[in-house]
Amino acid sequence: MSIERAKAVLDGARRILVFTGAGVSAESGVPTFRGGGGSAVWRGMDATELSSARMVGSDLKLVWEWFEYRRGLLASCGPNPAHQTIAEWADRFSDMTLVTQNVDGLHDKAGSRDVLELHGNIWRGRCLACGALERLDDTPLPEVPPSCSTCGGKHRPDVVLFGEFLPEDVFKRATAAAERAEVCIVVGTSALVFPAAELPLVAARNGASIIEVNPEPSGIGGPLSIMIEGRAGDVLPRL
Ligand code: APR
Repeated sequence: MSIERAKAVLDGARRILVFTGAGVSAESGVPTFRGGGGSAVWRGMDATELSSARMVGSDLKLVWEWFEYRRGLLASCGPNPAHQTIAEWADRFSDMTLVTQNVDGLHDKAGSRDVLELHGNIWRGRCLACGALERLDDTPLPEVPPSCSTCGGKHRPDVVLFGEFLPEDVFKRATAAAERAEVCIVVGTSALVFPAAELPLVAARNGASIIEVNPEPSGIGGPLSIMIEGRAGDVLPRL
Protein backbone atom coordinates (compact mmCIF):
# COMPACT_ATOMS: atom_id res chain seq x y z
CA MET A 1 0.00 0.00 0.00
CA SER A 2 2.62 2.55 1.01
CA ILE A 3 4.77 1.53 -1.94
CA GLU A 4 1.90 2.22 -4.33
CA ARG A 5 1.23 5.60 -2.71
CA ALA A 6 4.94 6.45 -2.89
CA LYS A 7 5.10 5.46 -6.55
CA ALA A 8 2.10 7.68 -7.33
CA VAL A 9 3.80 10.63 -5.59
CA LEU A 10 7.06 9.99 -7.46
CA ASP A 11 5.40 9.51 -10.85
CA GLY A 12 4.77 13.13 -11.63
CA ALA A 13 7.69 14.54 -9.60
CA ARG A 14 10.79 16.25 -11.01
CA ARG A 15 12.65 17.81 -8.09
CA ILE A 16 13.64 15.06 -5.65
CA LEU A 17 15.79 15.19 -2.53
CA VAL A 18 17.17 11.83 -1.40
CA PHE A 19 18.47 12.00 2.19
CA THR A 20 20.34 8.95 3.52
CA GLY A 21 21.80 7.76 6.80
CA ALA A 22 23.68 4.70 8.06
CA GLY A 23 20.71 2.41 7.38
CA VAL A 24 21.26 2.64 3.61
CA SER A 25 24.66 0.94 4.16
CA ALA A 26 23.50 -1.58 6.77
CA GLU A 27 22.96 -4.30 4.13
CA SER A 28 26.50 -3.66 2.90
CA GLY A 29 27.70 -4.84 6.31
CA VAL A 30 28.47 -1.38 7.70
CA PRO A 31 27.44 -1.14 11.37
CA THR A 32 24.90 1.62 12.10
CA PHE A 33 25.56 4.05 14.94
CA ARG A 34 22.43 3.37 17.01
CA GLY A 35 20.43 0.23 17.45
CA GLY A 36 21.93 -3.26 17.10
CA GLY A 37 25.47 -3.87 15.92
CA GLY A 38 26.66 -0.28 16.31
CA SER A 39 30.40 0.17 16.65
CA ALA A 40 29.65 2.39 19.60
CA VAL A 41 32.60 1.29 21.76
CA TRP A 42 36.21 0.63 20.72
CA ARG A 43 39.07 -0.16 23.07
CA GLY A 44 36.61 0.67 25.84
CA MET A 45 36.18 4.21 24.57
CA ASP A 46 32.87 5.63 23.37
CA ALA A 47 32.68 6.39 19.65
CA THR A 48 31.39 9.90 20.26
CA GLU A 49 34.48 10.62 22.40
CA LEU A 50 36.81 9.14 19.76
CA SER A 51 35.06 11.08 16.99
CA SER A 52 35.33 14.39 18.81
CA ALA A 53 37.07 17.55 17.67
CA ARG A 54 38.86 17.73 21.04
CA MET A 55 40.53 14.38 20.43
CA VAL A 56 42.09 15.65 17.16
CA GLY A 57 43.98 18.21 19.22
CA SER A 58 44.89 15.91 22.10
CA ASP A 59 45.59 12.58 20.41
CA LEU A 60 45.54 12.65 16.59
CA LYS A 61 47.27 9.24 16.46
CA LEU A 62 44.46 7.61 18.45
CA VAL A 63 41.84 9.30 16.25
CA TRP A 64 43.53 7.77 13.19
CA GLU A 65 43.74 4.36 14.87
CA TRP A 66 39.98 4.54 15.47
CA PHE A 67 39.32 5.67 11.89
CA GLU A 68 41.70 3.04 10.51
CA TYR A 69 39.67 0.43 12.40
CA ARG A 70 36.49 1.72 10.68
CA ARG A 71 38.21 2.04 7.30
CA GLY A 72 39.40 -1.56 7.68
CA LEU A 73 35.80 -2.70 8.24
CA LEU A 74 34.61 -0.63 5.27
CA ALA A 75 37.35 -1.82 2.88
CA SER A 76 35.50 -5.12 2.43
CA CYS A 77 32.04 -3.49 2.09
CA GLY A 78 30.52 -2.73 -1.31
CA PRO A 79 27.39 -0.86 -2.42
CA ASN A 80 24.10 -2.74 -1.97
CA PRO A 81 20.94 -2.58 -4.16
CA ALA A 82 19.80 0.51 -2.27
CA HIS A 83 22.90 2.50 -3.28
CA GLN A 84 22.62 1.17 -6.83
CA THR A 85 18.94 2.12 -7.14
CA ILE A 86 19.66 5.64 -5.89
CA ALA A 87 22.47 5.95 -8.46
CA GLU A 88 20.00 4.93 -11.22
CA TRP A 89 17.44 7.47 -10.02
CA ALA A 90 19.76 10.25 -11.15
CA ASP A 91 18.76 9.34 -14.74
CA ARG A 92 15.11 8.89 -13.78
CA PHE A 93 14.50 12.31 -12.17
CA SER A 94 15.57 15.45 -14.01
CA ASP A 95 16.47 17.32 -10.84
CA MET A 96 17.59 14.95 -8.08
CA THR A 97 19.92 15.87 -5.23
CA LEU A 98 21.51 13.18 -3.05
CA VAL A 99 22.48 14.25 0.46
CA THR A 100 24.09 11.74 2.80
CA GLN A 101 25.14 11.72 6.44
CA ASN A 102 27.36 8.72 5.73
CA VAL A 103 31.13 8.97 5.42
CA ASP A 104 31.60 5.48 3.88
CA GLY A 105 31.79 6.60 0.24
CA LEU A 106 29.40 3.82 -0.89
CA HIS A 107 27.13 6.16 -2.85
CA ASP A 108 30.20 7.20 -4.92
CA LYS A 109 31.17 3.54 -5.39
CA ALA A 110 27.63 2.79 -6.65
CA GLY A 111 28.02 5.47 -9.32
CA SER A 112 26.21 8.44 -7.75
CA ARG A 113 27.81 11.77 -8.70
CA ASP A 114 27.99 15.09 -6.92
CA VAL A 115 26.93 13.50 -3.61
CA LEU A 116 26.48 16.12 -0.89
CA GLU A 117 28.40 14.59 2.03
CA LEU A 118 27.23 16.51 5.09
CA HIS A 119 29.61 14.70 7.44
CA GLY A 120 32.60 14.35 5.08
CA ASN A 121 34.25 11.20 3.77
CA ILE A 122 36.37 8.65 5.67
CA TRP A 123 38.52 8.07 2.54
CA ARG A 124 39.72 11.68 2.49
CA GLY A 125 42.31 13.48 4.65
CA ARG A 126 42.53 17.20 5.35
CA CYS A 127 45.90 18.74 6.21
CA LEU A 128 45.97 20.48 9.60
CA ALA A 129 48.75 22.77 8.36
CA CYS A 130 47.72 23.84 4.83
CA GLY A 131 44.14 22.58 4.53
CA ALA A 132 44.84 20.47 1.42
CA LEU A 133 42.39 17.62 0.79
CA GLU A 134 43.81 14.25 -0.25
CA ARG A 135 42.31 10.85 -1.14
CA LEU A 136 43.63 8.25 1.31
CA ASP A 137 42.27 5.04 -0.20
CA ASP A 138 44.86 2.59 1.17
CA THR A 139 44.12 1.01 4.51
CA PRO A 140 46.16 0.28 6.58
CA LEU A 141 47.86 3.61 5.95
CA PRO A 142 51.66 3.56 5.41
CA GLU A 143 52.02 5.98 8.35
CA VAL A 144 49.67 7.19 11.10
CA PRO A 145 48.91 10.12 11.17
CA PRO A 146 49.34 10.36 7.35
CA SER A 147 51.52 13.18 5.97
CA CYS A 148 50.27 15.79 3.53
CA SER A 149 51.74 15.36 0.01
CA THR A 150 51.57 19.13 -0.46
CA CYS A 151 53.33 20.50 2.61
CA GLY A 152 54.45 17.52 4.74
CA GLY A 153 52.05 18.48 7.55
CA LYS A 154 49.73 15.99 9.21
CA HIS A 155 46.27 15.05 7.87
CA ARG A 156 43.18 14.64 10.03
CA PRO A 157 40.23 12.64 8.70
CA ASP A 158 38.08 14.89 6.48
CA VAL A 159 35.04 13.90 8.54
CA VAL A 160 32.82 16.19 10.65
CA LEU A 161 33.45 15.23 14.27
CA PHE A 162 31.17 15.79 17.23
CA GLY A 163 31.39 19.43 18.25
CA GLU A 164 32.26 20.62 14.75
CA PHE A 165 30.29 22.54 12.15
CA LEU A 166 29.13 20.97 8.90
CA PRO A 167 30.90 22.12 5.69
CA GLU A 168 29.04 25.37 5.04
CA ASP A 169 28.84 25.21 1.24
CA VAL A 170 27.61 21.61 1.31
CA PHE A 171 24.94 22.39 3.90
CA LYS A 172 23.82 25.47 1.94
CA ARG A 173 23.43 23.43 -1.26
CA ALA A 174 21.57 20.70 0.64
CA THR A 175 19.22 23.25 2.23
CA ALA A 176 18.53 24.88 -1.15
CA ALA A 177 17.65 21.44 -2.58
CA ALA A 178 15.33 20.79 0.39
CA GLU A 179 13.58 24.13 -0.14
CA ARG A 180 12.92 23.30 -3.82
CA ALA A 181 12.07 19.62 -3.48
CA GLU A 182 8.66 18.27 -4.48
CA VAL A 183 9.46 14.92 -2.81
CA CYS A 184 11.99 14.08 -0.09
CA ILE A 185 12.90 10.40 0.28
CA VAL A 186 14.44 9.71 3.71
CA VAL A 187 16.34 6.40 3.80
CA GLY A 188 17.86 4.72 6.84
CA THR A 189 18.29 7.48 9.38
CA SER A 190 17.19 7.82 13.00
CA ALA A 191 17.01 11.58 12.30
CA LEU A 192 18.45 12.30 15.75
CA VAL A 193 21.53 14.29 14.76
CA PHE A 194 21.11 17.94 13.83
CA PRO A 195 21.50 20.07 11.80
CA ALA A 196 21.51 17.23 9.20
CA ALA A 197 18.10 15.96 10.33
CA GLU A 198 16.72 19.47 9.71
CA LEU A 199 16.62 18.85 5.95
CA PRO A 200 13.47 16.69 5.67
CA LEU A 201 11.72 19.25 7.92
CA VAL A 202 12.74 22.09 5.57
CA ALA A 203 11.40 20.10 2.61
CA ALA A 204 8.11 19.34 4.40
CA ARG A 205 7.70 23.00 5.44
CA ASN A 206 8.04 23.95 1.77
CA GLY A 207 5.30 21.56 0.73
CA ALA A 208 7.30 18.48 -0.25
CA SER A 209 5.83 15.01 0.17
CA ILE A 210 7.97 12.93 2.54
CA ILE A 211 8.60 9.25 1.92
CA GLU A 212 10.53 7.37 4.65
CA VAL A 213 12.14 3.95 4.18
CA ASN A 214 13.23 2.35 7.46
CA PRO A 215 12.43 -0.86 9.39
CA GLU A 216 11.76 1.42 12.39
CA PRO A 217 10.04 4.70 11.49
CA SER A 218 11.95 7.76 12.73
CA GLY A 219 8.79 9.90 12.60
CA ILE A 220 10.77 12.76 11.04
CA GLY A 221 8.30 13.20 8.21
CA GLY A 222 5.34 13.75 10.50
CA PRO A 223 1.88 12.19 10.27
CA LEU A 224 1.40 13.01 6.58
CA SER A 225 4.55 11.23 5.47
CA ILE A 226 4.42 7.94 3.58
CA MET A 227 6.13 5.37 5.81
CA ILE A 228 7.48 2.25 4.12
CA GLU A 229 8.67 -0.14 6.82
CA GLY A 230 11.42 -2.31 5.43
CA ARG A 231 15.05 -2.59 4.53
CA ALA A 232 16.42 -0.16 1.98
CA GLY A 233 17.95 -2.92 -0.14
CA ASP A 234 14.51 -4.54 -0.52
CA VAL A 235 12.30 -1.46 -0.76
CA LEU A 236 14.21 0.93 -3.03
CA PRO A 237 14.47 -1.41 -6.04
CA ARG A 238 10.71 -2.01 -5.73
CA LEU A 239 10.06 1.70 -5.47
N1 APR B 1 17.42 -0.24 5.69
C1 APR B 1 16.96 0.98 6.07
N2 APR B 1 17.14 1.51 7.30
C2 APR B 1 17.80 0.75 8.19
C3 APR B 1 18.32 -0.53 7.90
C4 APR B 1 18.10 -1.02 6.57
N3 APR B 1 18.55 -2.23 6.19
N4 APR B 1 18.93 -1.02 9.01
C5 APR B 1 18.81 -0.07 9.97
N5 APR B 1 18.12 0.98 9.49
C6 APR B 1 17.79 2.24 10.16
C7 APR B 1 17.63 2.15 11.66
O1 APR B 1 16.28 1.79 11.98
C8 APR B 1 17.93 3.58 12.08
O2 APR B 1 16.76 4.38 12.05
O3 APR B 1 18.87 3.11 9.96
C9 APR B 1 18.88 4.08 11.00
C10 APR B 1 20.32 4.23 11.48
O4 APR B 1 20.32 5.25 12.44
P1 APR B 1 21.72 5.73 13.05
O5 APR B 1 22.56 4.54 13.40
O6 APR B 1 21.40 6.75 14.10
O7 APR B 1 22.46 6.44 11.83
P2 APR B 1 22.24 7.91 11.28
O8 APR B 1 20.81 8.32 11.43
O9 APR B 1 22.84 7.96 9.94
O10 APR B 1 23.16 8.80 12.29
C11 APR B 1 23.31 10.17 11.97
O11 APR B 1 24.93 10.36 13.73
O12 APR B 1 26.71 9.34 14.79
C12 APR B 1 26.35 10.37 13.93
O13 APR B 1 27.63 11.35 12.23
C13 APR B 1 26.99 10.16 12.59
O14 APR B 1 26.07 10.47 10.38
C14 APR B 1 25.81 9.89 11.66
C15 APR B 1 24.68 10.61 12.36
